[in-house]
Amino acid sequence: MTNTHNVLLLPGDGIGPEVVSATRAVMDWFQDNGHIRFDITEDHVGGCAYDAYGTPLADETLEKARAAEAILLGAVGGPKWADVDYALRPEAGLLKLRKELDLFANLRPALVFDALIGASSLKPEIIRGLDIMIVRELSSGVYFGEPRGIEDIGNGERKGINTQSYTTSEIKRIAEVAFELARKRGNHVMSCEKSNVMESGILWREEVTKLHGENYTDVKLDHMYADNCAMQLLRNPKQFDVILTDNLFGDILSDEAAMLTGSLGMLPSASLGAVENNKITNALYEPVHGSAPDIAGQGIANPLATILSFGMMLQYSFDRGDLAEALNTAVNSVLSQNLRTADIASGECKKISTAEMGEAVIAELEKSEKILKIA
Ligand code: IPM
Ligand code: MG
Repeated sequence: MTNTHNVLLLPGDGIGPEVVSATRAVMDWFQDNGHIRFDITEDHVGGCAYDAYGTPLADETLEKARAAEAILLGAVGGPKWADVDYALRPEAGLLKLRKELDLFANLRPALVFDALIGASSLKPEIIRGLDIMIVRELSSGVYFGEPRGIEDIGNGERKGINTQSYTTSEIKRIAEVAFELARKRGNHVMSCEKSNVMESGILWREEVTKLHGENYTDVKLDHMYADNCAMQLLRNPKQFDVILTDNLFGDILSDEAAMLTGSLGMLPSASLGAVENNKITNALYEPVHGSAPDIAGQGIANPLATILSFGMMLQYSFDRGDLAEALNTAVNSVLSQNLRTADIASGECKKISTAEMGEAVIAELEKSEKILKIA
């Protein structure tokens, strides 16, 4: 039996608590069946943390996050906090968590499940078998660059400023992640920036090319302007294996890639810190979708992106690719039985609730468990 893994749950706002609770049931299943042991604590982040503690990320919560081996986060934000001071808005809590834990590598896989091909707005032949990994830089770029702010420039004019900036080491460490992942997948990296209009993009292209020449000549490397990438994702998404890009372009391109798969409700993500002594120092797992305040509290949200994010936790933080695979297979089986939450339901499907989706995944895990025990 492995040691106990310390996991922090941060359900957050909107549908966050619902999707995390369905995922918690799946975590409990793995634990109750003796596959892995967790020591789970829970706290607030985002708007609910602002309500409870007056800040979207309390110092105590940040300390718990540092101490945890892995964090599972639901979502942050909502109209309730629209008038809150900019520095205290729910999103600021998430950004602080990413920055403080130095979670620079954001992995966003876009996988099309066969059963969901009909849910995509693209033609089946364009997306069947699609398997893209977006590697988004997450702790720098225009999200954090200085100077930033809104200033008065006289004559009733104001100026809003944000700065896109990347250093050599910031580019290198995220490019390394992309090349290493590519080696385990289709061996192709597409690096995306706007070097036609941005110096930070020129540096990005130069550093990625240099690193490739030094250490990764066995991997195929191509470059693309980010706007072209947005277009190519719709035209011929299967040309991509690993897409390497910065914080802002990665935010946009990953939402687009998510919709190729049929629903934002299907896309998991991992945000990883540096590796020390063969272990990832900090890791946060969260669905790519937001807090969806319009459907919060109704029990209809799709928990699969969060459940699959837990799968990524099993794989990347706990080195349990075996359990992650069992979980992915279970999700696939549930979808093949035409059980769907509202966002991915169509025609013949049976519409089920958030909690029922969690239970359906567990029922599939039970079946694979029986096969395992008989074998
Ligand atoms: C995401 C989200 C966040 C981002 C928001 C909630 C701050 O859109 O994780 O993609 O912009 O990074
Ligand atoms: Mg986003």
